[in-house]
Amino acid sequence: MSEKRSNFGSAWIFILAAIGSAAGLGNLWRFPYLAYEHGGAAFFIAYIICLLCIGLPLLIVEVGLGKHTKKGAPEAMASVGKRGYFKVIGWLSVMVAFSILTYYIVIAAWTVNYATNAFSLPWQGGSESYFFNQFLAITTDIGSFSTPRLPIIAGVIIILLLTYICIYKGTSGLAFVAKWITPLPFILLIILLINSLSLSGSETGLHALFVPVWASLLDNKLWFDAASQVIFSISLATGVMFAYGALLDKKVNVAKTCTIVVIGDTIASVICGMIVFSVIGHVALIDGKSIHDVISGGIGLAFVVLPQALALLPTGQGIFSFIFYLSVFFLAFTSIISLIESVLAAFMDSKAKLKRASLLLVICLLLLIFNIIYTMGNGLYLLDVVDHYINGYFMLFVMILEALLIGWVYNIFRFNQTVFLSSNHKALKLLFALLVSVVVPLMLIILFVRQISSDITTAYGGYPSAYLTGIGIGIFAVVILASILFTKKY
Ligand code: PHE
Repeated sequence: MSEKRSNFGSAWIFILAAIGSAAGLGNLWRFPYLAYEHGGAAFFIAYIICLLCIGLPLLIVEVGLGKHTKKGAPEAMASVGKRGYFKVIGWLSVMVAFSILTYYIVIAAWTVNYATNAFSLPWQGGSESYFFNQFLAITTDIGSFSTPRLPIIAGVIIILLLTYICIYKGTSGLAFVAKWITPLPFILLIILLINSLSLSGSETGLHALFVPVWASLLDNKLWFDAASQVIFSISLATGVMFAYGALLDKKVNVAKTCTIVVIGDTIASVICGMIVFSVIGHVALIDGKSIHDVISGGIGLAFVVLPQALALLPTGQGIFSFIFYLSVFFLAFTSIISLIESVLAAFMDSKAKLKRASLLLVICLLLLIFNIIYTMGNGLYLLDVVDHYINGYFMLFVMILEALLIGWVYNIFRFNQTVFLSSNHKALKLLFALLVSVVVPLMLIILFVRQISSDITTAYGGYPSAYLTGIGIGIFAVVILASILFTKKY
């Protein structure tokens, strides 16, 4: 049977580990861009509303169930309902975690390359052509494969090795990472923030980020993006928070602890947003362009606009570029560790009698194979499409199922006791029950259905629809079949 879990010891180690998981690439590359695209502070308001009504209650559910059962997602979900049918939803979230890892590690590997090159600034002559042509050797379309890029594979191997070394021992390794690595990017980002705020032109950038365009609040896409960003950013729907919750001491108040985690993650997003936008404001000023001409969406922001911007700094270009990529690397690394821990915890609880270290080795080797696919010339396109499906559909789907089950099948009032640890706070408990059983499923189902219809009418990212459908059906089939298979077998 499964090995016995030890505890994190203190609630603070859990908080650090959970913030380490939550604060990641999503805060740096997605949050600032979404905020800019959807009317600055208007997006932030929608984000906070989704965080309070959807994110925080669901985080409490996941951590609470993990703490209560002392198990990873599949076994924890099996405890909901009588015959363990719902284990399949636990495996589904573990599959989502694995799918995210297949590409998340590759992006982290880019940051390893950018950090090691920071002092020579090879992108100085033109960051866009450096990133796409030299670094990624990007192909013309999503269907053209090319040989994998060795420097990126090297980055992947370094990350997997470091992961192995840090967590093969178990809880003590996770606690070490939480204590010593999670705070690092925060310290580095604050240094960068101070530096970026002192740049000329930074006010124009911050203006674009913070001044609200209220009309955007009427846009359905803004709410969909806010809700899925909340779910991704606080690491829900992947089994991560079950696995970390399982390491929490019985006496810890889940609701309070989760609130601190959510605040920490939101601070990380705001800091990242401020850095990115003050630096962009500076570039706009130097190049004599408007800020809207400098900005670029998605990954381009972190790997095209920012390297160029950092290379334009009045002094210390090399060192600030290095600090930036190092902090992005640390942000990503602690998230990767949490995702791998979710997969590990699920198998450790299962009937498969494997040792932690050997299981971890198998997971790392499998990931290496999948990661190599995205190091090819069309990797960026593939990654974009896979991320769209996983983040947009699967994570929302898992959350809808989880909320419905906890709200309607599980005894939510008994659960309340586990989570709040006292019989006081009646109003708060009622609110929590209402949010989980009614508000969350309703909001998410509406957003989910609307997103499907918008995807049907306009092809995502302008990719050929044959590829979109093919990849969509492929991921759907693999993830669903694997979840059913694991539920049956383990
Ligand atoms: N929250 C992480 C980020 O913002 C990504 C992540 C998602 C990590 C799900 C773990 C689980 O980048």
